[in-house]
Amino acid sequence: EKGGYDHFMLKEIFEQPRSVADCLRGRVNADSGHLVLGGLRDYTEKLSKAKRIVIVACGTSWHAGLVAEYIFEELARINVEVEYASEFRYRNPIIKEGDFVIAISQSGETADTLAAIELAKSKGATILGVCNVVGASIPRASHAGAYTHAGPEIGVASTKAFTAQVTVLTQMAIAVASKKGTLHEDTFRRLLFELERIPSKIEKVLKSDEKIREIAEKFKDARNFIYLGRGYNFPVALEGALKLKEISYIHAEGYPAAEMKHGPIALIDAEMPVVFIATKDSSYEKVVSNIQEVKARKGIVIAIVTEGDKLIPTMADYTIEIPAMHEALIPLVSVIPLQLLSYYIAVMRGCNVDQPRNLAKSVTVE
Ligand code: F6R
Repeated sequence: EKGGYDHFMLKEIFEQPRSVADCLRGRVNADSGHLVLGGLRDYTEKLSKAKRIVIVACGTSWHAGLVAEYIFEELARINVEVEYASEFRYRNPIIKEGDFVIAISQSGETADTLAAIELAKSKGATILGVCNVVGASIPRASHAGAYTHAGPEIGVASTKAFTAQVTVLTQMAIAVASKKGTLHEDTFRRLLFELERIPSKIEKVLKSDEKIREIAEKFKDARNFIYLGRGYNFPVALEGALKLKEISYIHAEGYPAAEMKHGPIALIDAEMPVVFIATKDSSYEKVVSNIQEVKARKGIVIAIVTEGDKLIPTMADYTIEIPAMHEALIPLVSVIPLQLLSYYIAVMRGCNVDQPRNLAKSVTVE
């Protein structure tokens, strides 16, 4: 049942070329310029007129929501707010008739997310669900939605569900932006073309498996980790840190790299591993300066870089390459090495990666 892998988590990490392809199948065709999410067909136009979208989710799904915020705002120029479902529901949130709420949930059963959409619905919002488990409570309570089609996720730490969520949300943002007219026809075509190439780019990154295992070996006894990224890679930093915490029980923090100097930089010393997601995108130069700041304090830098980067490898202690792509799509690929890094560290520490202590796959109580 684990398909020859030692754990479900590893199997699910390696399934991502296929699960992302499944999530694109029948929805995107770059040759014909076709992009349709069947379940949202009637809502794309309405969304394109929305003044505001509120995303509610928990945990890893909340991180997928943060990636969506960057993509929707950039491509479709719609104001997006990303809320922890548990905070949203108890805060007397401002929701008006005509607002759109997107609920993201792998299980479709998370109690806080379900309660958040029930509340938003009672205030007149339209609810769109992005879920993995077909027929679960959240999709049933939504007006419409799009499934992530990642297949059953057994490992408690979410991996392929995250990339599938980001894939669906990216397709939604592109479809809405195209309807709204905020996206140039060539950018639209280019994004579809690049989306179709994401599975093979993930495949390529999975080949760095051995290299990542060697890095894991060096850091398996670390007590702390910091993850830093900017722009589209900021949510990836949060997700990398969460993956490490939940399965290896190493304390890890994710931050937007620029926030480091407002406090966390005090933690940097020769014992502190700092993972930078430092791909060639619009934040690249800024992240390079952040790497210099960490090196100046003797921190140990592990950098996820774009293939062919000549500069960062001269500064970082370890580098892992990922292929180049449109920056809005980078999180789909830059998260992969972080999943593997946390997996190998947890295995080397003897942790039960598929069923980490204190965690349940589906959080049906608040
Ligand atoms: C992290 C993880 C959790 C879930 C969260 C929401 O790896 O699995 O943080 O992402 O409990 O669960 P869903 O997506 O089922 O609503």
